[in-house]
Amino acid sequence: MAGKKLIGPRLFGVAGRTAGSDAEFRYSAANEGSGLTWDAAPVGHDLTSPSTVVPGTLMTYAGLKNDTPRADLIQCLATLK
Ligand code: HEM
Repeated sequence: MAGKKLIGPRLFGVAGRTAGSDAEFRYSAANEGSGLTWDAAPVGHDLTSPSTVVPGTLMTYAGLKNDTPRADLIQCLATLK
């Protein structure tokens, strides 16, 4: 798979991926047990306020409240195959 885990997991292939399913990354139980799939809608919500969508997530990114750049970002994530 393309990409590299750093502080966070690889985001190549994230669109359509089950949360917490990259075997090379050690996720929090919160993320792994969230039962979410990162299709367009949850990723959109997650990026508005990640800690609201996955309470207890280790991801410290606060989110992107502004709709236009968030939509652009989600579109960009979808291209990471
Ligand atoms: C535009 C910026 C970012 C996007 C689009 C993004 C996206 C994501 C997504 C979709 C996941 C879930 C992946 C999965 O379940 O396989 C995730 C997890 C994570 N991200 Fe981010 N992220 C961003 C910024 C950051 C930043 C700035 C950090 C830390 C400095 C970070 C750290 C993490 C960590 C630690 C996790 C795992 C969470 C857990 O196990 O609870 N992310 N990120």
